[in-house]
Amino acid sequence: MKFHVLTLFPEMIRQGLAPSIIGRALEKGIIELNAVDIRDYSLDKHRKVDDYPYGGGAGMLMQVQPVYDAWQAVCGGKKLRTVYVTPQGVPFTQKLAGDMAKEEELVILCGHYEGIDQRVLDEVVTDFVSIGDYVLTGGELPAMVMIDAVSRLVPGVLGNDASAEEESFFNDLLEYPHYSRPEVWHGKPVPEVLLTGNHRRVTEWRLEQSVEKTRRVRPDLFAKYEEKQKLLKALSKDKRNMIPIMESLSRGQGEILYQKDGDVVVYAPFSEVCMLALSNPANCERVYQSAVKHPAWYLVFSREMKDYLLQQGHALWGECFQYLYTLRQTMPVAYKQIRSLTIEDLPYVNAHYGQDGEEEEYLAERILSGAMYGAYDEQGLIGFIGCHNDGSMGFLFVEEPHRGKGIAVSLESFLINRQLERGYIPYCHVRKENTASLHLQEKLGLYRAGRPVWWVFGSPESELTKD
Ligand code: ADE
Repeated sequence: MKFHVLTLFPEMIRQGLAPSIIGRALEKGIIELNAVDIRDYSLDKHRKVDDYPYGGGAGMLMQVQPVYDAWQAVCGGKKLRTVYVTPQGVPFTQKLAGDMAKEEELVILCGHYEGIDQRVLDEVVTDFVSIGDYVLTGGELPAMVMIDAVSRLVPGVLGNDASAEEESFFNDLLEYPHYSRPEVWHGKPVPEVLLTGNHRRVTEWRLEQSVEKTRRVRPDLFAKYEEKQKLLKALSKDKRNMIPIMESLSRGQGEILYQKDGDVVVYAPFSEVCMLALSNPANCERVYQSAVKHPAWYLVFSREMKDYLLQQGHALWGECFQYLYTLRQTMPVAYKQIRSLTIEDLPYVNAHYGQDGEEEEYLAERILSGAMYGAYDEQGLIGFIGCHNDGSMGFLFVEEPHRGKGIAVSLESFLINRQLERGYIPYCHVRKENTASLHLQEKLGLYRAGRPVWWVFGSPESELTKD
């Protein structure tokens, strides 16, 4: 991802971002920074960029010409997403950071003095964003704040262990407190539960702490959390069928767009999956109107809703059985040489997954997010598995000569154990015609949900066939 920053103080931006994790990502080329001095585009011999405001008032304004010319120079004819950082903007949130992290290039415009002539803002700016309800002397610090928050969501910027996707504002709650050595300091011991080595108790304790802290400090966030908990409770009556919606909510990745009389629409912005559950076939239209228009995918939990989407011109990808693992016990893993894939494994994975390499970008993102695992022998990789960006398990592949030796069972058991460590309920979707995989799920002892689900393309068919 490339950040272009239009500023009067490019050195401040370069130096501010040079150290630490962001600096390392810049060095490695995972992100790029182009700090542009707006003064370089001034036509004035003294490099002046400001003038008095019409109508009077205190202070000076940045003029249209240098700002516009600097913007045009970085865009090079493209219409790049352009953020003006200003106290008059919408609040910068984790969600907005996630949305921006999907851009290949982002322009950030920093104001100074009393601001920038409105006409150039109207022409170039796509997003007006504020980092908080206070006024700073210029846009450079907000630009750096945004670059930091967006960059850490770009795959590869954080290490594998610290996948930002999974953390996601800790499920809409503030984070729990952390402790390190010494065990007692100033007479204050580390909470005893953290010393037990009991993963489940630690996870429960952390959740309690988070809930309590959020209730006290951020009642607004807490109200959102409670709404989700209520829906989770209602869905838990039909857990086996509703597991993707429940997991997306409890992992902090899903937002409730609509819920009424047992109909539910939840959208997961990271994976761009819009999930539609319907209690009454008569409500198809109402539910469809509440859904995100043109997500990447619809995941549909009712046959009538699927039929309605097809009538609206959407194409069906497939009908799947859902399998889930509800036990909390880890599984035995007989094959020992399984570990995280690295980006060097991308050509192998790409050659054995998807068609014509069309999934390469997605696979690279999955590997860099730490979501993919491989089975190796002395010669190298012989198979792999991973989690899709919606949270379901998938991608399973074992090379022909190594099949029938239990490697697929080991790979899936290994992945299930990683999911359990994170407090997730592992689940997967298997197309009805994929008998080998259906067989594997049964062999592993996963539960099959009573009803199938349907994956439907988000764009209507007419859009998909367009160039
Ligand atoms: N420029 C000055 N103050 C700001 C703020 N709070 N957020 C974004 N940009 C700003």
